[in-house]
Amino acid sequence: MPEAKKETVTLIDNTTGKKFDYPLLPGTLGPKVIDIRKLYGDTGYFTYDPGFTSTASCDSAITFIDGDEGILLHRGYAIEDLAEHSDFMEVCYLLINGELPNKKQKGDFVHHVTHHTMLHEQMQWFYRGFRRDAHPMAVMCGVVGAMSAFYHDSTDINDPRQREIAIFRLIAKMPTIAAMAYKYAMGQPFVYPLNELSYAGNFLRMTFSVPAEEYKVNPILEKAMDRIFILHADHEQNASTSTVRLSGSSGANPFACIAAGVASLWGPAHGGANEAVLLMLKEIGSKEKVGEAVKKAKDKNSGFRLMGFGHRVYKNYDPRAAVMRRTCHEVLSTLGVKDPLLDLAMELERIALEDEYFVQRKLYPNVDFYSGIILKAMGFPTSMFTVLFALARTVGWISQWKEMIEDPGMKIGRPRQLFKGAKNRPFVPLSQRG
Ligand code: CMC
Repeated sequence: MPEAKKETVTLIDNTTGKKFDYPLLPGTLGPKVIDIRKLYGDTGYFTYDPGFTSTASCDSAITFIDGDEGILLHRGYAIEDLAEHSDFMEVCYLLINGELPNKKQKGDFVHHVTHHTMLHEQMQWFYRGFRRDAHPMAVMCGVVGAMSAFYHDSTDINDPRQREIAIFRLIAKMPTIAAMAYKYAMGQPFVYPLNELSYAGNFLRMTFSVPAEEYKVNPILEKAMDRIFILHADHEQNASTSTVRLSGSSGANPFACIAAGVASLWGPAHGGANEAVLLMLKEIGSKEKVGEAVKKAKDKNSGFRLMGFGHRVYKNYDPRAAVMRRTCHEVLSTLGVKDPLLDLAMELERIALEDEYFVQRKLYPNVDFYSGIILKAMGFPTSMFTVLFALARTVGWISQWKEMIEDPGMKIGRPRQLFKGAKNRPFVPLSQRG
């Protein structure tokens, strides 16, 4: 069979008339990419793409997003199917290993995660160094980073067994770390994990139980928690994932890399948006004021944006938001919770989806729009919302980190710049400066 002709793209330098051919590489899905690795050597030029709106930073086989169609696939499986038919432990296995587990593989995986849930006892003293009113994400940045000071035997990134243990430790200990951040802020005693419970059930118990009372995990909340974890598990090369990859590309240990991811996630344009949505809904206050808020969001001088709306990649309804919206209604009605903020959110969604400004810019609700309302109904304070996102996203971060470390072509990430500062100039001694 004749070999298929390789596709190329030609760059014409109009300043010199020279032509350069660059390979066009196809993926299994999504846009092709122009391989410009030789561009600088050929032309002496860099490309310019602040915000990476047109740049593929790596090869990956983990998560695919079609933002125009509103499609999200993990290893080829639709997020809607995973949320409906799978559970978080299976999704973790899938993201890390590429396939859904069989019964034995699942049993072994859950066993390993379950038996790494406890934290080194010394770590509780680390918490006690923080102010009680610290934001739990600030505590998360510190404690997750400190894991490399406690688990020295899983920081050698060149040892596959150590990498595997680090992965189990991160997935297993994140709920314990997050629940402890909550307990510390509440001034309540830390609650140790109970390994007979599910991943989500254990987290709820460590968060909401107190030693003075019996605690029974509510199966509705357990199921909802598990689904929320699934919906946040991974999302391609977003800011925090790219941060993890960039940190890891230097050879930094996985705990340090995940701490970098937690820090990046905290921002309100990223994982911090779920907290910002609830604060915004509270500030709007009533359905009557929704129109005013939408007007303000359209005014560029106001500095105000509708939190939970818009996405760099989705130019359609975020598929996670659709599942989250359904789950939100289910949870609230099963728990018999009437939250005026939900009515307000639905009114805001209705108005924004009809408004020319939002329609034209394809600004739809994203995953964060509804998650805060469910989390509030479940009893979490707003300051914990992004912590829950970080807990769930840890598996995505670590899967992407593993994929990168195992790629023989891995290079340290080192972007370049368009320099606009001063040119070389003579040093002026202090005595001669005006
Ligand atoms: N409210 C009002 N206007 C908006 C909004 C919004 N939420 N989002 C974007 N726009 C406008 C923006 O002003 C711009 O208008 P114009 O073309 O007239 O200048 C246009 O839409 C495109 O916006 P952009 O800032 O160029 O888009 P981006 O891709 O850089 O930003 C985003 C994406 C998510 C940062 C942004 O939509 C935003 O700030 N949304 C609110 C925060 C939020 O909900 N973030 C959670 C993201 S999903 C969870 C996650 O993955 O972390």
